[in-house]
Amino acid sequence: MIRLEKVSYSYPDGTPALENINLAIKKGEFIAIIGKNGSGKSTLALHLNGLLKPQKGKVIIRGMDTRDISKLPGIRKLVGIVFQNPETQFVGRTVEEDLAFGPENLCLPPVEIRKCVDMALAETGFEKYRYRSPKTLSGGQGQFVALAGILAMRPECLVFDEVTSMLDPDSGTDVLERIRKLQRKGKTVVYITHNLEELHAADRIIVMDKGRIVLEGDPESVFADPSLQSLGLTLPSLIELAARLKTCGVAIPWEKTSSPHSFAEEICQLFLKT
Ligand SMILES: Nc1ncnc2c1ncn2[C@@H]1O[C@H](COP(=O)(O)OP(=O)(O)OP(=O)(O)O)[C@@H](O)[C@H]1O
Ligand SMILES: [Mg+2]
Repeated sequence: MIRLEKVSYSYPDGTPALENINLAIKKGEFIAIIGKNGSGKSTLALHLNGLLKPQKGKVIIRGMDTRDISKLPGIRKLVGIVFQNPETQFVGRTVEEDLAFGPENLCLPPVEIRKCVDMALAETGFEKYRYRSPKTLSGGQGQFVALAGILAMRPECLVFDEVTSMLDPDSGTDVLERIRKLQRKGKTVVYITHNLEELHAADRIIVMDKGRIVLEGDPESVFADPSLQSLGLTLPSLIELAARLKTCGVAIPWEKTSSPHSFAEEICQLFLKT
């Protein structure tokens, strides 16, 4: 659904941010992008719906080139981005107004706009905040409204740039669970995070460094790669624990490393066997 071919980008002040990126994202995929600060993740995200355009190479969204201005409305309808600081995205006086803004920009008729807003509020469980001013919401609540705002535009692909970083663990888990639900319903998800604990069930992880993709694969193979630490990334604690146990001859199967519960169960089984 999304294809980046040999994409390079430098900011107007000359800072290089992307170097020869090749990436294909399939419909329905949950793809995670990780990498230390300044590695180019957000710049890549901004290329996915034409907010930034490559200086070299091209970005194709379902056959549409983001450099073609006439295609931008179609591209923005297909790909929605949620950023880390939701308050910078609020435009309405109430949550409802805010959610209507995107569909209005797509020039949908009023009946359709209402349907989009209702659906987005229902999907995020935020009906009760319909008439609240978005500026009065907490960070976590605001993040849900930002998510609802993107959903109201019914994009097929959702890009999340560090949306859980300011949330408490419960709210973070809740947002991630809602995102996973959307993916199970068929949406394509591009998920940028510093929290590798969230990625056990990703279809694919892309690791960026200095504007390049330096590692790519399913979570099991990426987390097993010895270069991860030198890229400034810390393994999820259960994966690290499994790796250490392995050096002592204790093998914990990958699927058991997804939660403390399954990990503990496996350890108990091993004890019972001995
Ligand atoms: N508006 C800008 N003008 C100039 N340089 C920028 C701008 N935005 C980002 N950069 C630079 O581009 C490079 C990539 O930045 P980017 O924001 O894409 O990284 P990131 O991986 O998202 O980092 P973080 O994890 O901190 O969010 C960095 O060197 C950064 O300093
Ligand atoms: Mg960023």
